[in-house]
Amino acid sequence: MYANKEYSSSIMDNSGTIRIGDVNYDFPIMMGTESEGAIDLRTLRSKSGYIAFDEGYGNTGSCESSITFINGEKGILRHRGYPIEQLAERSSFLETAYLIMYGQLPNMVTLSAYKRNILSNATLDAKMYPLFEGFHKDSHPMAMLSAIVNSLCTYHSEYATNSRKLDLEHFDAASSILMSKARSIAAMSYRKKMGLPMMESDSNKSYAEDFLHMMFSKQGMPYEDTCGASKALDLFFLLHADHEQNCSTSTVRMVASSGANLFASISAGISALWGPSHGGANMAVIEMLEAIHASGDDGSGFIEAAKSGQAKLMGFGHRVYKNYDPRAKILGKSAVSVLEKIGVNDPLLDIARRLERAALEDDYFIKRKLYPNVDFYSGIILKAIGIPVDFFTVMFALGRIPGWMANWKEIAENPKSRIHRPRQIYIGENERNFIKLEKRK
Ligand code: ACO
Repeated sequence: MYANKEYSSSIMDNSGTIRIGDVNYDFPIMMGTESEGAIDLRTLRSKSGYIAFDEGYGNTGSCESSITFINGEKGILRHRGYPIEQLAERSSFLETAYLIMYGQLPNMVTLSAYKRNILSNATLDAKMYPLFEGFHKDSHPMAMLSAIVNSLCTYHSEYATNSRKLDLEHFDAASSILMSKARSIAAMSYRKKMGLPMMESDSNKSYAEDFLHMMFSKQGMPYEDTCGASKALDLFFLLHADHEQNCSTSTVRMVASSGANLFASISAGISALWGPSHGGANMAVIEMLEAIHASGDDGSGFIEAAKSGQAKLMGFGHRVYKNYDPRAKILGKSAVSVLEKIGVNDPLLDIARRLERAALEDDYFIKRKLYPNVDFYSGIILKAIGIPVDFFTVMFALGRIPGWMANWKEIAENPKSRIHRPRQIYIGENERNFIKLEKRK
């Protein structure tokens, strides 16, 4: 139903030369559509015997992609060419999800068919309910999300064949199931934790409204959105929808490169997102702000601790942004407006603003180009609309699913795609002979 346009980088007339010892090796120069240049080193090892070493991949382009463009120095983020500021102001999460996955903005007919597909797919197979019962009462919701998303392979095995061709043919159906059911799985994990019975979805509601309804409605007491929570949540999801080759997206691509199906690949991405250096930072920010509040510190003590390496200012710093993360700017404003609508004066917002001001004026942070990232204000919004702290990273995952799926699709559609298999520099023992057990010291 939905076809993507094909893109590729251009190969420049001039080449790049690497000199090792007294031998010169020439490599093609590639140029992306936003003039990002790269030396194509794919033949480095076969030509020279050397590999490129780049632990943490700070200098490594792992793929060509036409989904998202980031200029970290200038604080620019665009999906399929559209600036994040315009999408945040004029689009919705589902429309942006469509754009990210299929490359173009949908027209009215396509968008409404797309929404219908997603909203009508929320109900979980009844055989899945015992899965929730099987988890320990205190299980982390990210563990449940990753495990149960992977289990979708077994309930929808016709869309999860691990045959690239077949899985791609079923992408529209599988991606709608995943988008919709991940939301139901998240809500169900919360209800299980709270000892609440399952709540049927209502496909007449919007994506975010239905999620809040499945989370918080009680028998005879439907959830009432009195503070614009669903609008704020829709914006939160939209701002998290994709972010180029970060840790979890690279994980999805890595798993997809082996030919693994969509559900299995996204489940791996969820696990990668969980860590505190990545999506888990949104939980860590609130924990940090609460600890500062409880200690009575105005934030300056914490800034000093971060500068001396005793603590990390969570929600600050980014591998790519060396300027203000544009998503943090939008979320900072949204946090103020949500709190105003609820009529709550959250002291954590004041602490966050004080920390931000202090850090932006401090030489330590200025020199290292450390600015607030997307996680700095997002937790304040999630907390205000009643999402428990251990579900913050789950919210990030729900938002990021379209980006992960678009990246899975890019791999599956590329006939030249090869399994991702980096090399290493071995630093262990040289060859030695096996010693019999009785002769070992
Ligand atoms: N607080 C204090 N110092 C910091 C911070 C921070 N948040 N972030 C980086 N630094 C310092 C480092 O200690 C290092 O200092 P040094 O040069 O004196 O050794 C310097 O800045 C460079 O930092 P790196 O760790 O090399 O940066 P890297 O690109 O590897 O890490 C990361 C980026 C993981 C985001 C890091 O900034 C961090 O841990 N931030 C806090 C956690 C966070 O907010 N993560 C969410 C990231 S966004 C996302 O994934 C959605």
